[in-house]
Amino acid sequence: MSTEKTFSADAPLVLEGRSLTMQFGGLVAVEDVDICVRRGEVLGIIGPNGAGKSTLLNLLTGIYQPTRGEVYLDGRSLAGLPAHKIAEAGIARTFQTSRLFGSLSVLDNVIIGMHTRTRCGVLMAMLLPGRAKAEMRRSADRACELLNSVSPDLYERRNQLASSLPQADRRRLEIARALATEPKVVLLDEPSSGMDDRDTDALIADIEKLQGANPDLSFIIIEHDMRLVAALPDRVMVLDYGRKIGDDLFEVVRQMPRVQEAYLGKKASHA
Ligand SMILES: Nc1ncnc2c1ncn2[C@@H]1O[C@H](COP(=O)(O)OP(=O)(O)OP(=O)(O)O)[C@@H](O)[C@H]1O
Ligand SMILES: [Mg+2]
Repeated sequence: MSTEKTFSADAPLVLEGRSLTMQFGGLVAVEDVDICVRRGEVLGIIGPNGAGKSTLLNLLTGIYQPTRGEVYLDGRSLAGLPAHKIAEAGIARTFQTSRLFGSLSVLDNVIIGMHTRTRCGVLMAMLLPGRAKAEMRRSADRACELLNSVSPDLYERRNQLASSLPQADRRRLEIARALATEPKVVLLDEPSSGMDDRDTDALIADIEKLQGANPDLSFIIIEHDMRLVAALPDRVMVLDYGRKIGDDLFEVVRQMPRVQEAYLGKKASHA
């Protein structure tokens, strides 16, 4: 499958974490990790279970405040900002385990994702109901557009309850909801988990299409599925026991003994 990569290696840095460290009691889950992603770049993160991948995303999105280190978006420090302010600033994410509102429709799940970008609060809805209705209509139209751009099939299912979707479509819906915040960077935590090879290939194609339509959008994707890691990222970072042990092209990191051992079922040649 050919991809039209528009990312340029000297594009400006969008998101940057410097010397990030996260300690839980006696356990150092992330230790002194530098991470960055440039405009339009797709960064993959791989590493064995418990390596600190999700914790790193939690540090970048303000769910955890780092024990040490700082996060910068477009060169501005995000230190001390709560998660919702960081979302507003332009960092969106999906979670390793699904966090959809199962009892709401597919469309409403996307509309909820837009709340960081809509101006209408409860007070305005009471004082200016006409304006509130117009804004809701605009949100619904935009949500339909987004769903269609992520997956026409999901758009067809927009009035179904999110809980009725198969696993692969739930994952797609979470991506659509993340995009609804109009982010600069999207962080995906194991987007292909629970998918078979066919669904994973479809997901790869969906993300490639999104990249084509939004060339300035950056992605950080945690993945265990080597099909996806080989296909999408411009660069792959390897975490092991909380430390960064590699950060390079997939072709390079896949040769690392630790990566071969963890992902390709080969024993490392040294301990
Ligand atoms: N809130 C927490 N409190 C205590 N320990 C935690 C917490 N969150 C994560 N950890 C620990 O930190 C380490 C890293 O966990 P993390 O979830 O970041 O790993 P991961 O690389 O995402 O693993 P997986 O591939 O299984 O998702 C693990 O040892 C985990 O048990
Ligand atoms: Mg994880």
